[in-house]
Amino acid sequence: MSTWNEGYTTDVQYTSFFHAELAPSHLEFASLANGFHAPNLQGKFAYCELGCGQGVTLNALAAVHPQANFWGLDFNPSQIVNAQRMADAAGLENVQLRDWSFAQALEHADELPRFDVIVLHGILSWVSDTNRQELVSFIDRTLKPGGLVYASYNALPGWAVMAPLRHLARQHYLRNPKRSDLHVPDFVKFADVMNEVSALYFKSNPSVMGRFETMRKQPPAYLAHEFLNANWRGFYVNEIAEQFGEARLDYLASATLIENIPAASLPPGVAGLLQQHMPEDRIWQELAKDYANNKMFRRDLYCRGLNHLNAADQGRALAKTLFALTAPRSAVKIAFQGPVGEAGGAPDVYNPILDLLEKGAATFAQIVATVPGRDHAKALQAVILLVHSRQVLPITNSVPESAGALNRFLVDAYFEGSSYHIIVAPRARTALNAAGNDLILLGALLAGKKTPKEIASYGVERLASNGRALRHGDKALQGTAAVEHLVSQLGPELESRTAVWRDLGII
Ligand SMILES: C[S@@+](CC[C@H](N)C(=O)[O-])C[C@H]1O[C@@H](n2cnc3c(N)ncnc32)[C@H](O)[C@@H]1O
Repeated sequence: MSTWNEGYTTDVQYTSFFHAELAPSHLEFASLANGFHAPNLQGKFAYCELGCGQGVTLNALAAVHPQANFWGLDFNPSQIVNAQRMADAAGLENVQLRDWSFAQALEHADELPRFDVIVLHGILSWVSDTNRQELVSFIDRTLKPGGLVYASYNALPGWAVMAPLRHLARQHYLRNPKRSDLHVPDFVKFADVMNEVSALYFKSNPSVMGRFETMRKQPPAYLAHEFLNANWRGFYVNEIAEQFGEARLDYLASATLIENIPAASLPPGVAGLLQQHMPEDRIWQELAKDYANNKMFRRDLYCRGLNHLNAADQGRALAKTLFALTAPRSAVKIAFQGPVGEAGGAPDVYNPILDLLEKGAATFAQIVATVPGRDHAKALQAVILLVHSRQVLPITNSVPESAGALNRFLVDAYFEGSSYHIIVAPRARTALNAAGNDLILLGALLAGKKTPKEIASYGVERLASNGRALRHGDKALQGTAAVEHLVSQLGPELESRTAVWRDLGII
């Protein structure tokens, strides 16, 4: 049994996901769109991820910001080794990884740069009170004035009815010791039986099983980290605001962009009600919104030394920001997933914006000019929601070479059977989710293939040379059948997709 793990799950490694909200470009846009100053994250800057796991997010971001320094700290050495392997394979020279506990990170604080950005994704709720104090002290010691902090955590009141299920899972695990991910199916079975025999906890809280249904579709390793740690705590937003206050941090906005737009993210009537109840108290407003939405998970953005942008400065900074589509125009949906379901957008506002972006990247000033009545507020809301849904992203003009090397690594990993499910988009300074077909297409384009047939043949041959086959549902397709299937999938959108990828600097 490990003694260094401080109660955290370490017998199975955490999953390798990319988290888009951690991208400097996202943090910068969230600050600007909500009318706050942010540090300049387009030149040199220093970025730190506390509890970086497998380092997928950190490495992807480092690849598209070669001028900045990225530090990833996590006490699990197996994960740090994987992160280092990925960084080395992609030739990333601006990544520093350390297998430090949060306490060790604090001891080393004086040797580290002052950070412009510190991010903690999936940490605060799953560690001890002592660890949280260490994290706040680390931020206090290392964050620059004006620096940003991103922190996500399980929120109350949404977790209130689920917390007893997580308690039961942990107690069941302690009594049936087994590698934690292997224990997950045992507990799922037990919970199902309890539900079937109408245990009153499940009957009295009918939402529990619905939510559990969604969670259990996640990989067992993810659930082991979510449910089986010794420490677990849901927080009200004001509790985090109070603790972060010790490091002189102020709440900036939600990194889940739709949540900053009351009309798109609250049940009808709530926005009006909240305007009459302490509208100037931002933490109270957030707390009340969490009750309105029965919030389970928050992604908060804090700033040390929060300053409003005046309207003219915000207007100037927005006007010159470039935006580009991340998918062919035909695939864009004018519907946005938020805490209260889907919010639809007005076609007369969105269609002209999308028509413009279909021709290529455009500045916000150009976008405003397409909106009826040149309505700045409507244009801004539309752009925020398009960025929220990641169908449009803010972009810059530089295309760092380090991004190409990481993309080649991601393509090779896919063909060899360990997909990271992302492609880095250098001009957007982030990564995009990528299905297998996207990685095949990228590999083929990088290898100079042009026609759908050439691209499909390249993909099928590379899969076969790695002892793999193309999957279509439950079926494995080989040879001509696989090539024909890929042509039918990739052919129709080939031109529009490659145009989008060119705009994003991917090819
Ligand atoms: C839920 S995972 C999140 C990983 C990563 N941020 C992500 O979202 O993919 C939590 C991470 O925190 C690390 N961790 C937990 N307690 C820690 C501690 N006391 N010191 C350093 N790392 C810790 C774990 O090893 C794990 O990788």
